[in-house]
Amino acid sequence: MHYRDFVRPKYVELLQALGLDRAFERAAGSQLFYTDTQGREVAVSDFLGGYGAALFGHNDPQFVEQLCDLLRGGVPFNAQLSVRSAAGELGRELSEAFNRELGTDERYLSTFSNSGAESVEIAVKHAEFSRQKRMQAQFDALDFALSQVLDQAGAYRELERDSLALPAGLLPDTLLKVTVRQVVEAVRQYNLAQLHVEPVFVAVRGSFHGKLVNTVQLTYGKQYRQPFARFGLQVEFADPQHPEQLPTLAERHARHWLGVHWDGHALHLQRHAFSALTAVLLEPIQGEGGIREHAEAFYRGLRKLCNEQQCPLILDEVQSGFGRTGTLLGCTHFNLQGDYYCLSKALGGGLMKIAATVIRASHYESEFSYIHSSTFAEDDASCEIARSALKRLFVDDQAVLRQVRDKGQYLKRGLQELQAAYPQVIADVRGRGLLLGIELHPVAQHASLVQASAQYNDALGYLIAGYLLQFEGVRVAPSGSNSNVLRLEPPVCVTQAEMDALLLAMGKVCDLLQRGDALPLAAGVCADSIDQVAPRDTAFRVQALGLRNDPHVPVVAKVAFINHLIDADALSEADPSLALLSPAQKRDFIRRTRPERRVVPLGPVLIRSRLGMAVEFTLYPLCMDSNDMAAYIASGELDVIRDEVGNRILDARADGHQVAGLGMYTSIVTNNCQALQIADMALTSGNALTIGMGLEAIEQACQQQGIDLAGQTAAVIGAAGNIASTYASLLSESVDRLILIGSGRDGSLRRLEKTAQLIYADAARSILKGRTDQDRLARRLQALDGFGALLDSHVGRNDLGKVIQQWVDARLGAEAWIQVSNDLTCLREARIVLCAANAPQAFLDASHFAERSVICDIAVPLNVDQNLTRERPDVLYMHGGIVQTPLGDGLDENVRAYLKAGQLYACMAESVLMGLCGMRQHYSYGDISREQVQQIRALARLHGFGLAQFKTDNSL
Ligand code: F0G
Repeated sequence: MHYRDFVRPKYVELLQALGLDRAFERAAGSQLFYTDTQGREVAVSDFLGGYGAALFGHNDPQFVEQLCDLLRGGVPFNAQLSVRSAAGELGRELSEAFNRELGTDERYLSTFSNSGAESVEIAVKHAEFSRQKRMQAQFDALDFALSQVLDQAGAYRELERDSLALPAGLLPDTLLKVTVRQVVEAVRQYNLAQLHVEPVFVAVRGSFHGKLVNTVQLTYGKQYRQPFARFGLQVEFADPQHPEQLPTLAERHARHWLGVHWDGHALHLQRHAFSALTAVLLEPIQGEGGIREHAEAFYRGLRKLCNEQQCPLILDEVQSGFGRTGTLLGCTHFNLQGDYYCLSKALGGGLMKIAATVIRASHYESEFSYIHSSTFAEDDASCEIARSALKRLFVDDQAVLRQVRDKGQYLKRGLQELQAAYPQVIADVRGRGLLLGIELHPVAQHASLVQASAQYNDALGYLIAGYLLQFEGVRVAPSGSNSNVLRLEPPVCVTQAEMDALLLAMGKVCDLLQRGDALPLAAGVCADSIDQVAPRDTAFRVQALGLRNDPHVPVVAKVAFINHLIDADALSEADPSLALLSPAQKRDFIRRTRPERRVVPLGPVLIRSRLGMAVEFTLYPLCMDSNDMAAYIASGELDVIRDEVGNRILDARADGHQVAGLGMYTSIVTNNCQALQIADMALTSGNALTIGMGLEAIEQACQQQGIDLAGQTAAVIGAAGNIASTYASLLSESVDRLILIGSGRDGSLRRLEKTAQLIYADAARSILKGRTDQDRLARRLQALDGFGALLDSHVGRNDLGKVIQQWVDARLGAEAWIQVSNDLTCLREARIVLCAANAPQAFLDASHFAERSVICDIAVPLNVDQNLTRERPDVLYMHGGIVQTPLGDGLDENVRAYLKAGQLYACMAESVLMGLCGMRQHYSYGDISREQVQQIRALARLHGFGLAQFKTDNSL
């Protein structure tokens, strides 16, 4: 799609993720039209109304006619540097309309521009121009007076510094005596600095004034403003809930000039107060911030502040003005008057891009008209259409304004009835005229995971908008700063039938939110494969089973765990309302919602140690499955996925977690955590305990199969890798013989030799540490004649393992305890087999294994053909061990995957143990050692975490 590839990449991805990726081809009145896949034109009722700009409907026939006439008549477009009569007429008519609306008789001057943000920039610029002019005049007057003092007799007189009460810092403290001249010069410097004091603007929390370099600093939404904070317009955001704080704002920015009075004998310093406040900006009704009005006291307080501080009140009526609320200006409802007004949106009749900054003549600086300009401002066609639009508001005894009020009232009443019917869904209905807002309550996590995650990503309103667009033929949008507020700004020509249809559709939305049903929302995202969603009346609440607190057990850490879905089909386990989606549709949904991959954190659940403490354990999932993950690995493009995993850890850190476990593929794609650079977070891949539990499972399986490890041969396939070689080393502590089997690829035997050497070195370490009682290989080495001398002469050397291996092989030949081979037939000699080869598909089957052997397959993808268990009931095939928590604590049922109540995967349990032990360093990070496995196994035992069962599902 070119719009994505050449214009707005990320934005279009989001539109797709939300089911909002429609291309409209035609617009008329209250409707927009697109063509569906069958080539049919589909009409959509537009309750978004061009963010309010389409008050008169799309392509209003009269305005279109007028514009065509103007163009055919050769209206000048590029007549800059001339008398722009149409602009003049529009200016006069706006001024007169303001007089009527506000009951004033003052003239208003309009500066025209092309967009809402521009009109605000102009207001800000004018306010600063005006302040500077005033400040300069005050400075000049004072400076003149000061220069007069310098000319007076006695200016060189020395005075006792202490007698003067000089402001701190005005002159160096070391001067005990100062001349009048010195004081005056210092005061002049002080005043000069005041002249350059930075202007301060006041805006309101929740405000939106545009996204240009300055206006974005006046816009409250952090996501827009923060990246540009260094541009530096200094802005204070007033809290509308606390009008009583406004005076302190004035105090904080109070400044003063200094003056000097010198009568030839005594010198007095005078202070002349001024304020750094340059302008106050206010949307009479906040639009983008969520359709909010303020308390009367706040409006009064702002007006008073401006009067007292002599700074203009700028009313941004871009959204609330020009008829949108049933009056020319939104401020009229509150009996409030500004000094500057910004208008745009419907001013252009829905056809032209035009904005106006309307300033009271008494506040207008005429030089401004000379120093500010813009190429396209004031063009005749735009101004003529704007004149007609203005006229249209008032013709037929204000028919348009009346309709705005009446239809607005009808819609609002309907929405209020919905609120009464769904009080748990709708928190508030507010607004005036055709500027309405519906605020939804936050979605509870256990009602629907998809809904709660949309909420978490601040996308719930957009997802609802996607559903309404795809299935209900209506177009709404949430407010940009709060996706839980849906905005309705339909054109005034919206019909009764359209309003009723909207209310009906909103009723369905309330119903699906109430029931925790995410299916219609998912269908909105996958509308090309789902034609309709049948109504249903089932409630989809997920039972929360996990223990959430225990007043008797202290919580010693907060542990996060990053995971993802095993396969896309499991999505409906996590959110049962999606059960009707086919596996392909679930995959589609997951793929399309990729930009919103962060699932709402699940938990916390309490996981207790048997030692009487606990951790809070929370999942931070990514909405993707193992196939998606594998695709990243196959493509080699790991940066994106590493960022996403890293972002989840940052989410967890921001929520106060100290430990994070990386589950499933998230540890693989991050190279066992090593690709992440995150401060103040202890990370683990969980590999150590995964191996530990795998061994425990093998041990138990052997018992079950009646095998005594000590007399057995164990085979490790793919033994060159870190995990498999650690397994092999640990097995060497108990088995009789080890066969390390390689891939047969170039150099595989050499790599296996290295593993064998590493195992011999581990055994030597056992001897040196005096723990041969637990290490069979070490014991047998020690029993060989001459080994003690060999060890003594090579201890501490890097090649100790190699030396031992060569020495043992020379002595024992084919009887050596560790053999390397590329021959799979030797598998039949082994009753214990660990499969960990890196191969694209299974290459081992029923024919490869010895009678009643124990096979642990930890490869990804699996090494063993899955028909094995059917064909060979004598063997015990599994993937490792699952952990039993000491007191039966565990995850909620819908997110447990293959786990049973009271169980955790070993990698999860490792992060839990880190939390319980107060570890603040990484644990399984990069390659792991045999000692790490032994240590974590010991900790697991200490805290009461043991083997629950063999892991028989391939859940990674
Ligand atoms: N001021 C207000 C009150 C606005 O609502 C907007 C835009 C602007 C200024 C900026 O106007 O986009 O023409 O530069 N509001 C939008 C909204 C876009 O989402 O309501 P612009």
